[in-house]
Amino acid sequence: MKRQEPERDTLISAEENRAMFDRIAKNYDAANRTISLGLDKRWRRKTIELLKPFRGGRYLDVGTGTGDLVFEILHQSVNVLVDGIDPAEQMLEIARKKALRRRLGDAVTFFTADALDLPMERETYDGIVSGFCFRNIECRQRALEEMLRVLKPGGMLVILEATYPEKAWVRWGYHIYTPLVRLAGKLFGGGAAYTYLVDSIEDFPKPGTVTDMFSAAGFSKVQCQPLTFGTVCIFSGKK
Ligand SMILES: C[S@@+](CC[C@H](N)C(=O)[O-])C[C@H]1O[C@@H](n2cnc3c(N)ncnc32)[C@H](O)[C@@H]1O
Repeated sequence: MKRQEPERDTLISAEENRAMFDRIAKNYDAANRTISLGLDKRWRRKTIELLKPFRGGRYLDVGTGTGDLVFEILHQSVNVLVDGIDPAEQMLEIARKKALRRRLGDAVTFFTADALDLPMERETYDGIVSGFCFRNIECRQRALEEMLRVLKPGGMLVILEATYPEKAWVRWGYHIYTPLVRLAGKLFGGGAAYTYLVDSIEDFPKPGTVTDMFSAAGFSKVQCQPLTFGTVCIFSGKK
């Protein structure tokens, strides 16, 4: 009898995903910086510039991991409250330690939660961001609808995600680079996770499909800004 494949958008299950990020948490930041050649800082800065956090606002980072987008929000604004959620407790532990070192006090709260079932009231946040998480969510359309639910009217959702480049000459360079990503992953002790990274980028929908998903969820003014030759994109939409 043919085995029934699970119906999900991702290559691995949510539980496998959580376990994988818990496993690589300790070296995640160093691996991230190496694999992105330090460009991830610029991508994060641009993501938060699009979010435009304002004084007194309340923000959410979905799949916060070790918290770098949360810290960028606090860097670009004053007097804001930011929540960072993630199912991987070991990633959150690193985020909490970084927040303590930065003496951020009550401005930031990190807690365990899933994008598919956000434990907040509707219309809680002035803006939501998410970095390199969307690709890992089992039901992406439902996640967009959940994020829309907890956004206040007029609020922005900004998603930073790695994408498979569309131009042939960029793909050529990309395929020269990906074996180095797998090698770096091995050096940082997360071989399988970085093989998954490459495979999941190639499996991720085209940017045009992602913007259609934003519109189908109910976002307006939907945009996609490709960065670094289309190897990452910033998707945004307004409630
Ligand atoms: C590649 S890391 C990105 C971490 C961080 N946002 C960054 O920019 O470095 C992806 C994160 O998404 C989290 N994640 C995966 N599935 C999730 C879900 N369904 N809901 C919330 N977070 C999820 C993972 O646990 C992981 O910490």
